[in-house]
Amino acid sequence: MTENQLSRLLDRIGDRSAKIAVIGQGYVGLPVAMRATEVGFRVVGYDTSPQRVEALRSGRSYIEDIPDEQLQAALEQGYYPTRDPLDLRAFEVAIITVPTPLRDGAPDLTFIESAGRDLAPRLEAGAVVVLESTTYPGTTEELLRPILESSGLEAGTDFFLGYSPERIDPGNAMWNLQNTPKVVSGVNAASCTAVEAFYGALIDKVVPVKSTAEAELVKLLENTFRHVNIALVNELAMFAKDLDVDIWSAIDATSTKPFGFMRFTPGPGVGGHCLPIDPSYLAWRVERRLGHRFRFVELANDVNSHMPDYVVTRIANLLNIDARAVRGSRILVLGLAYKAGTSDWRESPSTSVIEQLVELGAEVRVHDAHIPDHIAVELAAARVPCSDEELDAADLVVLLVDHPDLPYDAICSRAKLILDTKGCLRGREFRGELL
Ligand SMILES: NC(=O)c1ccc[n+]([C@@H]2O[C@H](COP(=O)([O-])OP(=O)(O)OC[C@H]3O[C@@H](n4cnc5c(N)ncnc54)[C@H](O)[C@@H]3O)[C@@H](O)[C@H]2O)c1
Repeated sequence: MTENQLSRLLDRIGDRSAKIAVIGQGYVGLPVAMRATEVGFRVVGYDTSPQRVEALRSGRSYIEDIPDEQLQAALEQGYYPTRDPLDLRAFEVAIITVPTPLRDGAPDLTFIESAGRDLAPRLEAGAVVVLESTTYPGTTEELLRPILESSGLEAGTDFFLGYSPERIDPGNAMWNLQNTPKVVSGVNAASCTAVEAFYGALIDKVVPVKSTAEAELVKLLENTFRHVNIALVNELAMFAKDLDVDIWSAIDATSTKPFGFMRFTPGPGVGGHCLPIDPSYLAWRVERRLGHRFRFVELANDVNSHMPDYVVTRIANLLNIDARAVRGSRILVLGLAYKAGTSDWRESPSTSVIEQLVELGAEVRVHDAHIPDHIAVELAAARVPCSDEELDAADLVVLLVDHPDLPYDAICSRAKLILDTKGCLRGREFRGELL
């Protein structure tokens, strides 16, 4: 039974006649839907947000890496955004890319559960379901599988089930969905083959692993590695400042070692949907399952989440040089996104820096050309252009995001005082300090 179903599914994937449903049309799901459409599949993009579906239907992309033209071309090729679960009928491949936030420090898997509940009644024998949302090892088998099996079909026998972590790096011009190797897995060998075949149609290189739990761990290992190493350089940056050593040039020199070292640089903290959240999924699972605390994650959370406080202290110290208090000073914040080149400001450390400065009585103005004005940013700070007037009028300019399109020459020549938390003004003349 499975073998016939598998070979039929592989044929349908091979000739692109399979119907694909991508559940969640966000930073992860929309690029998957676009790529699947581009290679010739019929794709339904299912999302519960009416605003998002409406924007997609009218050809307006809210994801920077997907230009409107690409979305419009996909719509012409048959890509179908919808929020009606009935449109999921008769899917052959379903990819789940819904959010996995933390709620009160614990994983919130309700979005995965509801995606599973929308798919289960439409699940047919021979289809494959793949979870891409980042989560702790065991989720696909323990949480998603029983929901899908409520259909009466058995995973691995009647339908195929797998997990494949997303590695999308918003704003990265070099590594994209197609050329970044993709780890794939299944609850059994047939499932893994089905998952591998689907991604093989989209992506240059797929890397099968033994189990869904292993694939789930891969993603958390990647993000925990980054989180811990960023915390390491952040803590070192604070000590180096007090030791009067230039951390930036020490990192440059260390980076000349061709083996055994990977470059990370200091900054105002971590943001986005991954680093502040994913390692805590792993720590939660380890504590729940094994009764152990994941000390590296706790330490990294502690260091990185306090970086905005450190930035505010450094701002206060810098203003002190000019005999100014934070209260009443006009501070221009450059960067609201969580990293360069993206419009994603979820969990951005800039938010905390701004809130603290406002709390201390500063007059805060914020510039980020990547974040559209219509995005309601609930900050007690005016949104302004990075104009000569704003630079001239600020008592201090703090650079929190190294967006490539900032007017760096004007910033250096006009700002009275600068705190550069990203090291992007290195090698230039300016009055102020690096983090
Ligand atoms: N953003 C990244 O860079 C990135 C990278 C790797 C992995 N991830 C992981 O991928 C997952 C998705 O992240 P994202 O950044 O794309 O999130 P996102 O918020 O940009 O998109 C998720 C979308 O899912 C929709 N949604 C929520 N519940 C739904 C449901 N039941 N059915 C259909 N649609 C639903 C939301 O309306 C939203 O449009 C998360 O687990 C995240 O950790 C994100």
